[in-house]
Amino acid sequence: MTDLSTNIGRLRLDNPVLTASGTFGYAEEFADFYDLNRLGGVVTKTVTLEPRPGNKPPRICETPAGMINSIGLPNAGVEQFIAQKWPFLQQLKTAVIVNVAGKTPDDFVRAVEKLEVLQGIAAYELNYSCPNVKEGGLSFSSNARIAEQVTALVRAVTQRPLITKLTPNVTSISEIGRACEGAGADAVSAINTLVGMAIDIHTRKPRIASITGGLSGPAIRPVALAKVYELVKALTIPVIGIGGIMTAEDALEFILAGAAAVQIGTANFMNPVAALQVVEGLQRHCEEENILRLMELRGAVQVG
Ligand code: SIN
Repeated sequence: MTDLSTNIGRLRLDNPVLTASGTFGYAEEFADFYDLNRLGGVVTKTVTLEPRPGNKPPRICETPAGMINSIGLPNAGVEQFIAQKWPFLQQLKTAVIVNVAGKTPDDFVRAVEKLEVLQGIAAYELNYSCPNVKEGGLSFSSNARIAEQVTALVRAVTQRPLITKLTPNVTSISEIGRACEGAGADAVSAINTLVGMAIDIHTRKPRIASITGGLSGPAIRPVALAKVYELVKALTIPVIGIGGIMTAEDALEFILAGAAAVQIGTANFMNPVAALQVVEGLQRHCEEENILRLMELRGAVQVG
């Protein structure tokens, strides 16, 4: 049997396939489809200190080979997360990574402090990169100094692994990644969505209410792969690849580019078993190619 395991800093995963925040609810929504413990881990929908209603509809629209969303991080707040969502999540044997966002640096710190009482959180993913909120959002990962400050503040209140989720909507993603690494992040995940727009030519209105939103899906995969490759070269901490991964073959491209793990996002909306199929496809690929450890392929892209 091939060894699919991987390490994200101190966090060991049975396989490198995670679900991306905001595309898999709080995991319970997908529990009827398959045994979630077959995944490397799940990343929860974003949790914030206070409840958020999210943005006005329409909040999503389809685009060629992708979709645009402007959901606005709706959630019931950290206290309701603990009361309502954690009881299911804590029973999972797979890694549960809690995605956290905030309007201010202090919001991140206070939300993480509240989560610290829970036993069994594998890591926090700090969402520095939502393009759809007025306060916070992209400001945390489009400025290296702020990304460094927030990471350091959260680092001071938890021993758990910290993953910082980065935006591609910047001049230099590696500059932001290096700032997070310097402030104590254990890994970065990239990319969040690209800012995009679509217009209904009949109504002449933007197809989502907030005018622009975040583009995801296969349309962004080559951009994501290039950003992951850039980060892998610039950082010493692991990089988790995200961006239009639909199949095991797509995931293998990210691993060859140097990703230590991948997240499956938009694919979950089209096919609720997509993430499991990626795990199975990686297993099959290794068996067919006589690869004993999947991570032998990490960074094995042949360049030059
Ligand atoms: C949203 O809730 O608007 C999307 C989340 C994100 O892009 O981080």
